[in-house]
Amino acid sequence: MSNDPKHGSLANKSRGWSALFSEPMSELVQRYTASVPFDQRLAAADIAGSLAHAEMLAAQGVISQQDAADIQRGLAQIKSDIDAGIFEWKLELEDVHLNIEARLTALVGDAGKRLHTGRSRNDQVATDVRLWLRGEIDALAPLLAQMQRSLLSVAEPHTETILPGLTHLQVAQPVSFAHHLLAYVEMFSRDAERLVDVRKRVNRLPLGAAALAGTSYPLDRERVAKTLGFDGLCMNSLDAVSDRDFAIEFCSWAAITMMHVSRLAEEIVLWMTQNYGFIDLADRYCTGSSIMPQKRNPDVAELARGKTGRVYGHLTATLTLMKGQPLTYNKDNQEDKEPLFDTVDTLAATLRIMAEMVSGIVVKPEAMQRAAQRGFATATDLADYLVKKGVPFRDAHEVVAAAVKHGLQQGKDLSELPLDVLRGFHASIGDDVYESALTLEASLNARKVVGGTSPERVREQIAAHRQRLG
Ligand code: ARG
Repeated sequence: MSNDPKHGSLANKSRGWSALFSEPMSELVQRYTASVPFDQRLAAADIAGSLAHAEMLAAQGVISQQDAADIQRGLAQIKSDIDAGIFEWKLELEDVHLNIEARLTALVGDAGKRLHTGRSRNDQVATDVRLWLRGEIDALAPLLAQMQRSLLSVAEPHTETILPGLTHLQVAQPVSFAHHLLAYVEMFSRDAERLVDVRKRVNRLPLGAAALAGTSYPLDRERVAKTLGFDGLCMNSLDAVSDRDFAIEFCSWAAITMMHVSRLAEEIVLWMTQNYGFIDLADRYCTGSSIMPQKRNPDVAELARGKTGRVYGHLTATLTLMKGQPLTYNKDNQEDKEPLFDTVDTLAATLRIMAEMVSGIVVKPEAMQRAAQRGFATATDLADYLVKKGVPFRDAHEVVAAAVKHGLQQGKDLSELPLDVLRGFHASIGDDVYESALTLEASLNARKVVGGTSPERVREQIAAHRQRLG
């Protein structure tokens, strides 16, 4: 990146506001205000937007067909230079837009200077960010689908693998491991729905709003929208150049999605501990310790959990960036880019690696089963059993509480108490109680309600998710 102060006046000239200025911009200001070190990432979107704008200008007779052809040729050259990594980005040219425009003019002369007719960097940058973000959304959606597929592939063989379902982190009721994983599939499927919805509001065209008030040139905005694949136009020029709610909404999607990732990561970390021992992760997703030779740490899950913080931070940053801005464009908006870029990068990397890691989870059903057997997970089932025999639920609840208390004293699960002992708590308990209520399997099988953990319901859900994901 060249940053020679003697370019200052040159830069003023390229920016098109030289006449008003009697001295070049201070070098400090140049550095402080320049965005090209990061917004060059928008180059492809900027060029696509310029091509569509130029084509429309020619079609409307605002510039000549020859100008449009020159612009096309110049931009093609610039694109290939950027792709090849030989484009010379200049800090004194401030941002991606001015860099490309100055180079275009150097390459094709006056046609390059006509490209900006009826356009401002204000509607240009808003268009670029939307175009770029739309592309990223389209790349993130399959990663979210892959995450769900990975969870389904682990879940499928475990519709009858029982682990303790928890509330308050205390053993509550038996559930299947498949059912547990499908809870995350539901979360990520809602994230996928939300992403589709965010895209609708991202995919509207600001170009034509010009600086803020619209333009007197006879622009065909619909034509540009169609060329660029936008679903519609921003219908108020002031709003079009100023609001970044589409980016904030994306960051809020990202924050919610990372919150789900983080919950899953937390469970993976817990399940990996010696205390749980419910799963193991492939070695390639673990790291060791430089001092403790026995260690295998689930660093990927921990980092995913940790990176959730920075994504929340970006949401807060973009919200705060916007809240004090009067209409219309203010330079504050230049600060939308780095948080947005980092949000996209963090989500893409995290979803990719988590999906991969999840698909390699090694399940340890015996440890899950053992944990489910401690903690009276079938106490509710015994109460339900009594209800079926005509005992009012509240009374049944009391009876079972007494039985659990006895079990605790004896160090035995309800299913390990002999029939005569159980009958001591209520006369209507029969020898069918073990098979129909007290075993983990009986408890699981009984929860046949839609959305419940019974293996048949869960298999239906797996099939439905598979069909949805195609
Ligand atoms: N680099 C600027 C941004 O990111 C482009 C728009 C500049 N417009 C202006 N009037 N200074 O927002």
